[in-house]
Amino acid sequence: MLREVIDYLDPKPGQIIVDATVGTGGHSLEILKRIIPGGKLIGFDRDENSLAVCRQRFSEFNGNFELVHANFVDLDQVLEKQGITGIDGIVFDLGISTYQLKDMERGFSFQQEGPLDMRMDQSSYISAYDLVNNLNESEISDILWNFGQERWHNRIARLLVQERKVQPISTTVQLADLVMRAIPYRYRKGYYRIHPATRTFQAVRIAVNRELEILESSIRKAVAILKKKAKICVISFHSLEDRVIKHTFRALKADGLIDIITAKPMTPVASEVVINPSSRSSKFRVAERI
Ligand SMILES: C[S@@+](CC[C@H](N)C(=O)[O-])C[C@H]1O[C@@H](n2cnc3c(N)ncnc32)[C@H](O)[C@@H]1O
Repeated sequence: MLREVIDYLDPKPGQIIVDATVGTGGHSLEILKRIIPGGKLIGFDRDENSLAVCRQRFSEFNGNFELVHANFVDLDQVLEKQGITGIDGIVFDLGISTYQLKDMERGFSFQQEGPLDMRMDQSSYISAYDLVNNLNESEISDILWNFGQERWHNRIARLLVQERKVQPISTTVQLADLVMRAIPYRYRKGYYRIHPATRTFQAVRIAVNRELEILESSIRKAVAILKKKAKICVISFHSLEDRVIKHTFRALKADGLIDIITAKPMTPVASEVVINPSSRSSKFRVAERI
């Protein structure tokens, strides 16, 4: 939804725009082209590798961008340190990038063998391995239900705890295989539109990175620093995130802080889903600071 983001943000020369999830810079590059001369892009990411890609990609814009290795929940402190008191727009493109998903060493994908890691920030302490091998059965079951709405959460948690007594669950393929064996036989193949391990992987990733608990406060902090008429654009990756965004926007509107531009969330067009199948469940919401 790159075009839509740029259309709504409508970046102009001299403006300060924040990309809260810079990734490998798809959105930021288009923003940079539009804010020169004189503008500044501040790009946040928890993933140092992605920031390194951006540093190279943006080299022709040196002086017009600042890349910050931080969680976007800290954006208020980071911007304050830089002396920025108002911004002209902000975008959040939540979840993980294709770049992260395809790197098998990061352990985000059940389609490739890799270590059970899933940390967005490789300097953080808790990995998927730690959660999966240390939480008790009911804690695992709760994670699978709360963050993945996985119907077979109890069965998966039970088998997982049984199997890790024999050997730790240490790879992505091991976990995906275990999920497949935990669900009833008739649901294993061809029943789901998605791979049966999709929800488990989503749930574990959300838990490892504590993705949902910081969302509301991050959106509130972003709105607090937006200049009048500036836009906040949020692309969420699944319905749990979208629900938080929807409720936070409504509460901020009730407080008289924003107007909601997208009464209903926008979804990707069919051609975008063909190019990037993981975008199929994304939702895009925009609000404007009053
Ligand atoms: C979907 S990708 C963004 C892709 C980007 N818009 C682009 O065009 O390349 C999401 C990125 O946000 C980062 N991310 C997710 N949650 C974050 C958080 N709380 N703080 C900072 N970065 C985060 C991830 O590491 C990932 O690189």
